Amino acid sequence: MSAQATRDVIYFASAPTDGSPALQGLATLGWHLRRADSMPAVLKILRGHAGMRFAAVIDLRGGFDARDLAAMAPMLSAGNAGWVACVQPDQLALEPIRQLIRDYCYDYVTLPCPEQVLSTVIGHAYGMASLSPRVQDEPAGDVNDGMIGECPPMRALYRALRKSALTQAPVFIAGETGTGKELAALAIHRHSSRHDQPFAAINCGAIAQNLVQSELFGYERGAFTGAQQRKIGRIEHAHHGTLFLDEIGDLPLDCQASLLRFLQEGCFERVGGHESIRVDVRIISATHQDLRALIAEGRFRADLYHRLCVLRLEQPPLRERGDDIVRLAENALRRYANEGRRVIRGFSPCAIHALHTYEWPGNVRELINRVRQAVVMADGRLITAEDLHLADEHTNMLPQTLEEARNNAECDAIQQALRRNRHRLIDAARDLGVSRVTLYRLIERHGLRRPDSDANAAGAA
Ligand SMILES: Nc1ncnc2c1ncn2[C@@H]1O[C@H](COP(=O)(O)OP(=O)(O)OP(=O)(O)O)[C@@H](O)[C@H]1O
Ligand SMILES: [Mg+2]
Repeated sequence: MSAQATRDVIYFASAPTDGSPALQGLATLGWHLRRADSMPAVLKILRGHAGMRFAAVIDLRGGFDARDLAAMAPMLSAGNAGWVACVQPDQLALEPIRQLIRDYCYDYVTLPCPEQVLSTVIGHAYGMASLSPRVQDEPAGDVNDGMIGECPPMRALYRALRKSALTQAPVFIAGETGTGKELAALAIHRHSSRHDQPFAAINCGAIAQNLVQSELFGYERGAFTGAQQRKIGRIEHAHHGTLFLDEIGDLPLDCQASLLRFLQEGCFERVGGHESIRVDVRIISATHQDLRALIAEGRFRADLYHRLCVLRLEQPPLRERGDDIVRLAENALRRYANEGRRVIRGFSPCAIHALHTYEWPGNVRELINRVRQAVVMADGRLITAEDLHLADEHTNMLPQTLEEARNNAECDAIQQALRRNRHRLIDAARDLGVSRVTLYRLIERHGLRRPDSDANAAGAA
């Protein structure tokens, strides 16, 4: 629980209500009541105290316009509040009310109800808000030019990037696909003396082979059919700046020869031209392929390799980055949180386990894509291994503590029971031999709640 001395509860009514708000007595039960008369007022409290955790009550007895649901989302999605809805019993039949409760609230009460009951329910919401991962707070000090990572291999990379930025020597960045080679190239450029000059990136693998030469070096008017006027190439565009040659392993052999000449002499000719053009660029290259293997196969020139690879950096694969995997996942969740329909508060234990167990062949790019998709598709408040399409991964037998093993087994058993019973809590609870209330609590803990789950299980009073 939070270290706050008093527990703060915000009260907001969606519309004027005749009934008593029933919150007056909360002060005597240890609550500090803050009334807010508008959504901006609620947001002001929540954003103004981003480090605090709140319980928040939304009184829906005066009703609300379903069209306002989207407008309410930022308020109800703020990561530092746990919401409880107050309703009249007959309102539970109304779909907008049901949806608001399902998507945004920890629980609801039907008023009037004894203050002690209300205080207990609000206490649960406050407790859950206190436990939630702080996905709204930007973690300090772990971003290096947009790169997230604190593990030893990433720290070593940052050191190498800084040193590389101080020189003009060509840099070659090796690493599997999606590990952040382009980000690293940009970081070198931004920290170098050329930072206020152009950074030109060219993906040698994405350009048709017959066009690479003219794309890189430009061409003169009439150089070939269709060349109606002179075109400046990427190398010339990058004059005084940095040229990033991505997927250099895909560079055609004839182009490799021209590039080698440029690297040796500092000048080149446009396609179809005779003028020797001197350009000052710093070269950074990268590929996910094994260049030494390409050399052995005769597909890449060894002399060009040695010219490009004066400084060699290695991007570590994601699976070797330990807790950075979760840091990156949380960052992606923060970035895409508003694309989902509901508030997502973090990752369930089985999702965290899967993040660590999966091999990540597509590395950071794949991680970001999986989280982004999960944000949109998730039905619960926590992203599960299933949402990430990694449900099989968390059962892999990597070293885990007994507590983790129990947690994962519990999460599995609940997921299976829910699937078997089409998410009917009563039947799933009976299968599992626990009460419906216990099952509901476990579902919340593992972040497995489904929109079609038995809403009544959440009710109090
Ligand atoms: N350390 C990191 N922190 C945050 N985002 C990252 C990190 N590394 C990579 N990314 C993100 O992952 C995605 C892939 O990165 P990038 O394009 O730099 O990889 P790459 O190694 O060049 O991939 P490819 O080999 O497929 O070209 C980008 O969206 C990038 O912003
Ligand atoms: Mg790339």
